[in-house]
Amino acid sequence: MPLRGEFTPPGDKSISHRLILMSIAAEGEMTATGLADGDDVKTSLRLFRTLGGETRGPEDRLTLTGLGGRVKTDPGRPVELDCGNSGTTARLLAGLATGLPGVYVFDGDAQLRRRPMERLAEPLARMGARVETTDGRLPLRVTGGAPLHGLEYVNRAGSAQLKSAIILATLKADSPSLIIEPVPTRDHTEKLVNAWGGRAVPTPAGLIIHPGRLTMPPEATVPADPSSGAFFLTAAALQPGGRVTARSLLLSPGRLGFLRVLERLGAEVSLSLEKEEPEPVGRVTVAHQGPLKATEVTEIPSLVDEVPILALAAAFAEGTTVFRNLGELRFKETDRLAAIHTQLGAMGVQARVSGDDLFVTGPAALTLPEVLDSGHDHRLAMTLLLARHLAGRRTPVLGEESISISYPGFMADLARLSA
Ligand code: S3P
Repeated sequence: MPLRGEFTPPGDKSISHRLILMSIAAEGEMTATGLADGDDVKTSLRLFRTLGGETRGPEDRLTLTGLGGRVKTDPGRPVELDCGNSGTTARLLAGLATGLPGVYVFDGDAQLRRRPMERLAEPLARMGARVETTDGRLPLRVTGGAPLHGLEYVNRAGSAQLKSAIILATLKADSPSLIIEPVPTRDHTEKLVNAWGGRAVPTPAGLIIHPGRLTMPPEATVPADPSSGAFFLTAAALQPGGRVTARSLLLSPGRLGFLRVLERLGAEVSLSLEKEEPEPVGRVTVAHQGPLKATEVTEIPSLVDEVPILALAAAFAEGTTVFRNLGELRFKETDRLAAIHTQLGAMGVQARVSGDDLFVTGPAALTLPEVLDSGHDHRLAMTLLLARHLAGRRTPVLGEESISISYPGFMADLARLSA
């Protein structure tokens, strides 16, 4: 059954995390409309409250009172910060904690405990912060309040989380930081710093972050998340008759790599911009318009979270699609590169990994096994749920409940778009 209709994906997860976590450092009061409703963003909210942050009102129009760095700590005892499954919470809050009084111990679930933290600890330590990992991973201990100095940092991993941690630490430093990005990553943190009265200045040499104070605006509206929207937009392109429109979508160029790939694969893609500030927002329609053809995908990090669904799309395209430089996917909720490869293979798709590149050959007739296994990775789970939908099957997807991490309404939206 081709997907047809309109939907509004949940609020953008990256922006939601930043609004909440930056409220720990900022002064003022802000009503945030449309914060993401997934478990990851709930984790950031829970930790905001653990640190003494107050909220009022309903979740979809939540008022947060900024802490201005005056966090609640228990003298003599570290503050325990359980980041659950959320890498964004752990990394951004660790950057922020270097400039807060007190001692913080960051931990998380088994998946988060696998993920690398040395690449975060190392630049923060170079800034003067006291940060200790456990063999390069969580638990991570930050002793806040050490004198911090600006840093020259090359973001070789292409990680917006690392960049953001350094930006947030620099706010409390005694000199600016210069962040050089060989490939640009999502820029939400620097945009918010500027919107909240700080100074993050893009220059030909790189992004210069100045130390300073933040004041939040009275209102913030969170656009819909393109990384969640990508699932249905992509699936619409795969079957004759498919046509799906996402409303109020964040149209930040650093997040739209998947749309460029869908166009190259041969889908019809149209965008209509409705608002430009503080972030571009509009409607996006994707439709099937004939057979798809293979392409080469080199746009990491602008589609870092969309690789699972794009790999499924590649299985519907004639020829071999190559995804280059997917090394970072090994450090996501699972080794996402290996998991995509294994699950595509289980569905009878010809796929192979060579170094950090993934090759997917299509068009494939999906032959589903008895069970699919998401490894409890939300983005893989949604991809597999769509694969079984496209194959017209009800194959169980192990770990499917992980979709609540980013898109609790996924199954309801799938039901509506396929009705
Ligand atoms: C995110 C950045 C990306 C992305 C994650 C959210 C962010 O991670 O995969 O889902 O909000 O900054 P990396 O920056 O580690 O690649």
